Amino acid sequence: MADEWIRIAAPATTSNIGAGFDIFGISLKEPYDIIEGRRTDSGIIITEVSGPGSESIPTDPLQNSVSIAAQEVLRRCGEDFGIEIRIRKGIRPCSGIGSSGASAAGGAYLAHILCGEKLDPTEVVLCAAHAEDVTSGGFHADNVAPCVLGGFTIIRSYEPFEVINIKPPEDLGVVVAMPDVLVPTRESRAVLPKEVSVKDLVFHVGNASCLVYAMMTGDLGLIGRSVKDAVFEPARAHLVPYLKEAESAAMSHGALVSFLGGSGPCIISFFDKKYLNGEVIAGSIKSLYSEKGMKCDTWVTECGTGCRRI
Ligand code: HSE
Repeated sequence: MADEWIRIAAPATTSNIGAGFDIFGISLKEPYDIIEGRRTDSGIIITEVSGPGSESIPTDPLQNSVSIAAQEVLRRCGEDFGIEIRIRKGIRPCSGIGSSGASAAGGAYLAHILCGEKLDPTEVVLCAAHAEDVTSGGFHADNVAPCVLGGFTIIRSYEPFEVINIKPPEDLGVVVAMPDVLVPTRESRAVLPKEVSVKDLVFHVGNASCLVYAMMTGDLGLIGRSVKDAVFEPARAHLVPYLKEAESAAMSHGALVSFLGGSGPCIISFFDKKYLNGEVIAGSIKSLYSEKGMKCDTWVTECGTGCRRI
């Protein structure tokens, strides 16, 4: 027996956002993955993986983020039916905009629907975070939380797990620039320091607190001033060619702030939609990489919803 296909859009997300390493995340309107699935009698199988970078994505259900997350939902719901899965990647792996997170969240959300939506949204996030743990080398939910819930998310605590969801300001525009270099999350986490100084801790708490206040009050100027990272981006900067030059190009073309997206290599720039359309920022980064002989894809987008049925 095989049932009707269900289709889920699972959006890209940008995480860390300055001082909120493994804590802050925002869901983006574009790009997104499409995860399709239908209920079968038994066993999870992946019958199609297509789109950018799909050749590197395992189809073994024990190694794939979509199926691992879906299996975790079935386990929590006490269900033992099977699912046939098709994955259409819109987000290239190793991009820093939550490619594995979108797959994991999309898989969890798909299984959640197939199970009759028995779980609360936080449990769906946890099922997706379990898949991130298996495939990315660390239990972090800062991509899967916004991917499931939408908007701006804050992980208050991992144990016990608690996530807060805030609607970002309407005028906040986002430029995503993806230079043609692959940065696996596992490798990008391996270069991080194991300890931070009190000075850096104080700096991060101040900026993180103000970023939350600015997101809630719609103070875009304060958002620009509060996206600051004294620890993680500096440790990773060498993994992304011309990162500082790209951020400077964005700033000199009107960005509020420009920073490393998640574990890289994407460069994220925020802008005020009231005054700019963002294309000029995207163009400045694209030109920089073109001058250096590198391809760079860009998206001019905004904050978006979480996973949705389409
Ligand atoms: N917070 C995670 C990291 C996100 O920076 O490693 C991975 O995309």
